[in-house]
Amino acid sequence: MNFLVFGNHPRLSLAEFSCINPNVSRPIICGKAALVQTTDWDGSVLMNRLGGTVKLGEIVGELPLNDLEASAVAELLQPRLQTPSLDFGWTVFGGSKAAQQRLAKLAMKFKRELKERGVASRWVTGEHNQELSPAAVAKLKLIDQGLDVCLFVSGETVHVGRTTDVQDATAWSDRDYGRPARDDVNGMLPPKLARIMVNLAKASHGSTLVDPFCGGGTVLMEAALATEAGKLVGSDLEAKQIADSKKNQDWLIGMHILRPNDASRFQYILSDVKTLGRHLATKSIDRIVTEGYLGPPLHGRERREDLERNASQISELWKAALLALRPLLRPNARLVVIWPAFKTEHGMARVDLTPALSELGYALIDPLAGWEEQPGPFIYTRPGQFIARRVAILETVA
Ligand SMILES: C[S@@+](CC[C@H](N)C(=O)[O-])C[C@H]1O[C@@H](n2cnc3c(N)ncnc32)[C@H](O)[C@@H]1O
Repeated sequence: MNFLVFGNHPRLSLAEFSCINPNVSRPIICGKAALVQTTDWDGSVLMNRLGGTVKLGEIVGELPLNDLEASAVAELLQPRLQTPSLDFGWTVFGGSKAAQQRLAKLAMKFKRELKERGVASRWVTGEHNQELSPAAVAKLKLIDQGLDVCLFVSGETVHVGRTTDVQDATAWSDRDYGRPARDDVNGMLPPKLARIMVNLAKASHGSTLVDPFCGGGTVLMEAALATEAGKLVGSDLEAKQIADSKKNQDWLIGMHILRPNDASRFQYILSDVKTLGRHLATKSIDRIVTEGYLGPPLHGRERREDLERNASQISELWKAALLALRPLLRPNARLVVIWPAFKTEHGMARVDLTPALSELGYALIDPLAGWEEQPGPFIYTRPGQFIARRVAILETVA
């Protein structure tokens, strides 16, 4: 059994994992972590692939929650304790507040237990006693030279795990902030969200993936890194955006983040989404992954009427886009798109094309169907932003 610890959007991140790992059975959810049983698990490959997972690792055993002792946890981790000294992290996921507090306190007893076993140790915590960040786990070398203990509470059972891989915070931040062409007016899709969307799209080897609102090319960048799609097409209404995408692509190759021969996978088109059919053949697209137009930047004091007008203009654009794109899509094409919702102190308005989908030849897909008691839309938010992004997954229907 293995575990994944998700970032700030656990449901979306679980959906992402389910899309790239179809052999996984229904997971056990413990707070923002999931325990999974799967036949094909390669921690480092998975960690490189996933945008929404910050840590993953192996479950070494399970113990009853009642009367859990630090010595029993140490016994399960004994093979990792063949060293004179180590640093360790200790995090509890899931369970009631009382159970969490009790298990969190076991860290000191675990330290004493290690001492009795001849191991001098240092218990390391995150800032303000928060969980250790992936960057801290990497910096403290807890994976190879220490131990990042994770306890997962589910009912009356505690699964004991150790982290084996963490997200490469530097690589993600370089791709986010290092790019030469940035656009703070139209907004840029966070690369981690772009990656999640690309994974939700399940692009196969040699397929054609299109972002018809490509902006600075975040989706294309993540698709080039995470998929074997043969053709990555970016189109946009604005010449400046196409130029920005190209500039960013050159930078990625210059920085050796992409290989020089990846360049031949990219194609750019200057076009309104509504007339993309002039540039792309009928039934030529396998996947569409796009953020789309989000409306004018908000300052937070817009009236409800303004928000509703924005939402209705964007809904009209999406209707026209879905209509124009439909003939260009191959059978069983999948689209992963963002529909924004706006919230200011005066009200909120949202873009939701669900009622129009079947007439346009699409259906909404839920990758977590059968895994959740209460299904719902996938919403991505960031603190301080007036826009929430709904990630919608669509497939074509005949
Ligand atoms: C929010 S931005 C996309 C940002 C992009 N995901 C990124 O990370 O850089 C929306 C883009 O849609 C483009 N756009 C707006 N209306 C369009 C239309 N009718 N057809 C094609 N592109 C359009 C804008 O020029 C802008 O680049």
